[in-house]
Amino acid sequence: MTRAEELENRLRLLVNFGGVVSKETNLSKLLEIIAEQVKTILNCNRCSVFILDRQTNELWSKVASGMQHTEIRVPFGRGIVGHVASSGQTLNIPDAYQDQRFTHEIDRLTGYRSRSILAVPLKNVSGHIIGVFEAMNKGGEPFNVDDEGILQLISSLAASGIENAQLYESLSKSQLETIYRLAITAEYRDQQDTAIHLRHISEYSALIAQGMGLPEREVENIRYASPLHDIGKVGIADAILLKPGKLTADEFEEMKKHTLYGAKILCNAESSLLQIACKVAGSHHERFDGSGYPARLKGEQIPIYARIVSVADVFDALCMPRIYKPKWDTEKAREYIFEENGKAFDPEVVGSFEKVYGEILKLQAVGDGKTTIIPGITKEMNRHSY
Ligand code: C2E
Ligand code: SIN
Ligand code: SIN
Ligand code: FE
Repeated sequence: MTRAEELENRLRLLVNFGGVVSKETNLSKLLEIIAEQVKTILNCNRCSVFILDRQTNELWSKVASGMQHTEIRVPFGRGIVGHVASSGQTLNIPDAYQDQRFTHEIDRLTGYRSRSILAVPLKNVSGHIIGVFEAMNKGGEPFNVDDEGILQLISSLAASGIENAQLYESLSKSQLETIYRLAITAEYRDQQDTAIHLRHISEYSALIAQGMGLPEREVENIRYASPLHDIGKVGIADAILLKPGKLTADEFEEMKKHTLYGAKILCNAESSLLQIACKVAGSHHERFDGSGYPARLKGEQIPIYARIVSVADVFDALCMPRIYKPKWDTEKAREYIFEENGKAFDPEVVGSFEKVYGEILKLQAVGDGKTTIIPGITKEMNRHSY
């Protein structure tokens, strides 16, 4: 292959890599896929992804040892891997056994003979090191500068996928339940059936996202972030929130601040799920035509998560009774969503709403305990929490 052909070939593999990585939410499967892809793209014998465990300050990786997969752990700062993690620098080593940073334990464990090693840090969007990528034994020759660039690029493509998968792994059922209960607490004052409303928002939003063809992890992000959209209502006085009649203009101005309060509550969070929840809380009352609140964002300026949740929120708010209005007929609520197509709502989102409308109706009809927003949280549990 000429250099141009080789680069073109790699580019094709990289594009494919981006697609594959964005679809897998299971961490071990994702790491396996990444390692396989890197071996192909860099034409090397082995690829290990080491993940930083902040609790123990070690880097862990799954390695094949005989027929089994064992987890190996390297202290932060030790070995080539540990060196890359602590310095944040790429290391390109032609012969591992000539480098005194190299630790032989892993070779001993695996019976593998390391020769050339290329190791790059795995950084998340905020620039924090979350692990190290290591490619080993390129066919016959050391890794070159092109390889370094490619592995760095792969590592940045992989980082967000890895972080997301880690997030779902680390969010235990009880943590998700806590998030959900927090959301209920914020809204229970103005809605006796908050739990149902939140479950609907969560499921409708996920269905719409799916209908739009968003990657699975984005669908899951929306599923778990959407129930927090109105958390800022905790900051709204009872006199306004619980007013049985129509709000005055001043009162509505005050009410609008629930978006700002919500964004403030959620924004400095480390977790990417809460960062998405923050965008949803802050922008779910923006309108596609730019006439919404709080920032009068327009079109694509409005985060996609918020454009989706907005349709789910309004549809369900209309279908439920509120202290200030009776519930609407479902068909009328559906028509309202179409009337606002291109005005309040993104046409692409409305299109998907239409596509999944049958499934939305099914969920609405079930709405009585068979569906759960989070496995383990049933309607029964919600009822007992009041
Ligand atoms: P919410 O009750 O959860 O309603 C969410 C959104 O659904 C509303 O956002 C609005 O876009 C839509 N929606 C709900 N009910 C109706 C309706 O009867 N007609 C129409 N055309 N749209 C409806 P919005 O208007 O920005 O309101 C945000 C929040 O402010 C509401 O959340 C509710 O908590 C409160 N709110 C709005 N209007 C009143 C009111 O007249 N009285 C009281 N007490 N609260 C109100
Ligand atoms: C090292 O980081 O020193 C050894 C890495 C390996 O063998 O995978
Ligand atoms: C209620 O009884 O209003 C709450 C029911 C539920 O959300 O499960
Ligand atoms: Fe709201």
